[in-house]
Amino acid sequence: MSKNIIVTGGAGYIGSHTVVKLVESGFNPIIIDNFSNSSPEIISRIELICKKKIKTYNLNCSDQKKISENINWNEIDGIIHFAAYKSVSESFKKKEEYFLNNIESTNILLRISEKYNINNFVFSSSCTVYGNPTTLPVTEKTELKKPSSPYGETKKICEELIQCSAIKNFTILRYFNPIGAHESALIGEHPSNIPNNLVPLICECAIGKREKLTIYGNDYSTKDGTCIRDYIHVCDVAQAHVHALQNMIKKTKTKQIFNIGLSKGFSVLELIKLFEKNNNIKIDYEFGKRREGDVEKIYADCNLAKKELNWAPEKTIRIALIDAWNWEKEKKNLRQIIL
Ligand code: UD1
Repeated sequence: MSKNIIVTGGAGYIGSHTVVKLVESGFNPIIIDNFSNSSPEIISRIELICKKKIKTYNLNCSDQKKISENINWNEIDGIIHFAAYKSVSESFKKKEEYFLNNIESTNILLRISEKYNINNFVFSSSCTVYGNPTTLPVTEKTELKKPSSPYGETKKICEELIQCSAIKNFTILRYFNPIGAHESALIGEHPSNIPNNLVPLICECAIGKREKLTIYGNDYSTKDGTCIRDYIHVCDVAQAHVHALQNMIKKTKTKQIFNIGLSKGFSVLELIKLFEKNNNIKIDYEFGKRREGDVEKIYADCNLAKKELNWAPEKTIRIALIDAWNWEKEKKNLRQIIL
């Protein structure tokens, strides 16, 4: 019988792609999402891709009472916890809300896992826990520095809470920069608020929603002065969750942390050029000031995930940028449906 996996934040960007991968791999995902930064329409689209109804609860993961009462936790085999606030810049303005929401929801899910003996827990963490690293690429053994934002601090604290919990199996996935969208262009990144992340902003410039992209800083100590990141296709990130679950189900006691990236560093300027070349479209940009909380350069060593999870990215950055652009064009229809 297929295993029931709770996916909190399953209508979100990485969550929705993971739900699709779970169905494709024979799991039965059950979504919890309060649609605070996503749309219920995404659920219909996931169902269209999977040709299957996905059980969905409209609940806030920080609401212990409702979370406990509304779900039959005895039937749950695993939890993938995505639901969290995720904007670096917003986290400086709303520090308390970020701490309350991100930490409280993780705590509640951990206590539920302990109570109902649910021993397969996957946590959505971020390379932000490495702060501004001094050696590159970063491995899972790289020293954790103070994260450069309150958002990053919440991820670091959640990792510690998981490691202190009594659950037998957990996997913490530290994603680098997920980009792109599902090849069908039916799901992708769809924030309710103004996007903060680079690729959605590039796409908005390309489609004419935004006049110009501001590159945050060109005086970093990198090849062209702009920051370096490790951009990875969201479907490869989603697949890592399936491998993590399969690995935990196979073994009796697994407590592991993995980097999930493409293991290549691209500068902001390089990414813009790649977008332009592969989608045959021009992006107007200007250089602005550095953004608070940005690290200069970071990219991953993912050999551990390869070895232990038998996971490696399958999609190139080129495909990721083409899929991102196809999704942006398709999103116009989504906006019409929602409005
Ligand atoms: C950060 C975290 C990442 C987290 C993500 C969540 C780090 C190193 N990474 O990603 O783990 O998942 O937030 O949102 O902390 N940029 C511009 N102009 C723009 C927007 C972005 O130049 O208008 C630049 C940024 O300065 C950065 C790069 O593009 O160098 C990527 O930015 P973004 O997409 O926001 O992601 P991170 O901040 O790297």
